[in-house]
Amino acid sequence: MKFERPRGTRDFLPDEMMSRKSVESRITGVFDSFGYQQVLTPVFEHTELFHAKSGQEISQHMYVFDDKGGRSLCLRPEATASIARMLASGLKTMPKPVKVYYSCPMYRYEEPQKGRYREFWQAGVELVGMDSHESDAEVVLIASECLRTLGVEHKLRVSDLRVLKHVLAASGLKESEQDSVIHLLDKGDIEGVKAKVRDESFFKIIGLKGGLDAVEAVEKIVGEKIKTITSGFKGILALLDSVGVAYTVDFSMARGLDYYTGMVFDVKVDGLGAQDQVCGGGRYDRLIGLFGGPDTPAVGFAFGFDRVLESMHLQGIDLGRSSVDVYVIAVDDNVGDKAFEISSMLRRSLGGRVVVHGLARKKLSKALEVASNMSASYAVIVGSKELEDGSVILKDMSSGSQEKLAIADIASRIK
Ligand code: HAM
Repeated sequence: MKFERPRGTRDFLPDEMMSRKSVESRITGVFDSFGYQQVLTPVFEHTELFHAKSGQEISQHMYVFDDKGGRSLCLRPEATASIARMLASGLKTMPKPVKVYYSCPMYRYEEPQKGRYREFWQAGVELVGMDSHESDAEVVLIASECLRTLGVEHKLRVSDLRVLKHVLAASGLKESEQDSVIHLLDKGDIEGVKAKVRDESFFKIIGLKGGLDAVEAVEKIVGEKIKTITSGFKGILALLDSVGVAYTVDFSMARGLDYYTGMVFDVKVDGLGAQDQVCGGGRYDRLIGLFGGPDTPAVGFAFGFDRVLESMHLQGIDLGRSSVDVYVIAVDDNVGDKAFEISSMLRRSLGGRVVVHGLARKKLSKALEVASNMSASYAVIVGSKELEDGSVILKDMSSGSQEKLAIADIASRIK
């Protein structure tokens, strides 16, 4: 019998897994450095959770199934709704803000293509319980710091959905109609938007791009009333400027999820093709209340982890390699058991360093080639002659120098 992988899924072989692990730990290392703490929610949830406010884009692309009890469940397509559900019940007693992060697979039944999978990974943060320009700026800064740490060239766009919603509301559109205009805009369907929106100022605003000047242009177009919104947004931009985060204000940016209520941002990388968005996020102040919790403001983002890796490949960035500290070679079968014992002793005394016991018996020159291919720093050569007086040969693989040593002294000689 031969089986194929389900469409849109991938297997990860050791080399690739090593790169993924190394990049993931650098991203989560940045999350840790901002004081965020890791959480994990179930892989499957009640389907309703995502129908409530995640938007049609997500709802239409879920893996939905009935369990044996007849409940409709789905594989999580994203984590924000799950985290809002989780916090809705426990928030009252938690000191705020709550700062959490996750790094785990998501599932969307989309048409697979380059950079778009049915099983893909997201690494994201949620800052819950705080509504301020500082918290918005902190979240954008975290995303930017991750990409800076990884060395990924990117373009960050930022907007505030309240600007568009304000103009749409002023022209008489109800909230659900506003959401559908935002969806059309997200899909780039300008004709669709034109069919629903008559107000010329809306089209002027979505054409605005730049820095502070774009925000000031909005204030001129809409007038005084918008300043309660734009003053907070300008506060975010000023903070981003103060910490050197480069961005473009782009009011045409809409996000495909319905729960956003304020600042939104995304990050794109040139050369990725159609699926060039590596990160997306924003403020969602009503989701936790909607899930039965106290009304709680929140803001967050998620990286499309697979797309971050693809960007790194594309930009020729080193993804990290596996490293072996010590490779232990038994020169023949007679000393195999002793070499096994020495490997175990070294692993314990070198705590955490990588010690590989060479299981396949090879000629010494071939075994040293294996050690070198693994980029081992040292080879320990176990031979019957040296063992007679309790010694082995320690070879420094980078300099090529070697010395005879008592077994008990090997660990202290390894740098
Ligand atoms: P999202 O924009 O739907 O936002 O997804 C975030 C990122 O996940 C995207 O920018 C993209 O890089 C990646 N992504 C989405 N779908 C796929 C796919 N099929 N294959 C590969 N990568 C994909 C959210 O999910 C929100 N929960 C983000 C958020 C957190 N907002 C506030 N907090």
